Amino acid sequence: MPKSVRTAVFPVAGRGTRFLPATKSVPKEMLPIGDKPLIQHAVEEALEAGVTRLVFITHSSKRAIEDHFDVDADLERALEAAGKTETLDKLRSILPREASCVFIRQGEPLGLGHAVLCARPAVGDEPFFVHLPDDLIRGDTGCLAQMAERYQTTGTSSIAVENVPRDETDRYGIVAVDDADRLSAIVEKPAPAEAPSTLAVVGRYLLTPRIFDLLETTGRGAGGEIQLTDAISDLLAHEPVHAFRFQGTRYDCGNKLGYIRATIDVARTDPEIIAALQGKALL
Ligand code: G1P
Repeated sequence: MPKSVRTAVFPVAGRGTRFLPATKSVPKEMLPIGDKPLIQHAVEEALEAGVTRLVFITHSSKRAIEDHFDVDADLERALEAAGKTETLDKLRSILPREASCVFIRQGEPLGLGHAVLCARPAVGDEPFFVHLPDDLIRGDTGCLAQMAERYQTTGTSSIAVENVPRDETDRYGIVAVDDADRLSAIVEKPAPAEAPSTLAVVGRYLLTPRIFDLLETTGRGAGGEIQLTDAISDLLAHEPVHAFRFQGTRYDCGNKLGYIRATIDVARTDPEIIAALQGKALL
């Protein structure tokens, strides 16, 4: 039986230029969807999948993320004194006791592959998740929990995918698969005419530790960056990798439209907000 996956890596060093000026001094991962920042949605998805070690690949401009997962004793005391127990509970449940956080700086923006390689000392010789918090996925069961369950039978690396319009292939990693959804190729941001399919990689990966050796030697690829996609392509020569078709809705919260769609859909599931909007005839 394959080992369970206890580590999730969150590459959060990127600047988020698609969302300027909102992200000039606030990390994009700290933008709220409902009453939680995107990074908290990401961490909750990992915890649901059984993860206990959270590894953030971060940057000096992203200190707010570290603060968010730290205990703020002054704030807790103030809430306690004011009798705001419900808010206090929300604050205390950001991170369960059994979870630990590791913050590693990615000094230079050399790409997603490089960010994942920075996590090597914290991950060790175990399978691990990579979670890109820009991609919010909502459903009955979190995407990582679905992948963890599948891993129990396959024991292979897997990558979450969904179909995208052909004219958008140059925004994603694109995979080619066989009848059993085993990857035969993966290519980073191909032009629509060259894409091997329209199955796009979304921001969830379950990877075996062999990927680290491959990342060590991965040269610069698309956009002049060290691409995780290229190391996964190399991995195919050594191990099977499966495409994983998840249940749920993905929102690309790195752009305005996806972010607003996510905000509206999350609000729609909040009874308090629905009642308030209906009361004001806004819904
Ligand atoms: C990254 C990956 C790409 C993947 C995408 C999903 O690209 O390199 O393969 O499809 O995330 O969101 P980025 O969006 O960081 O350019």
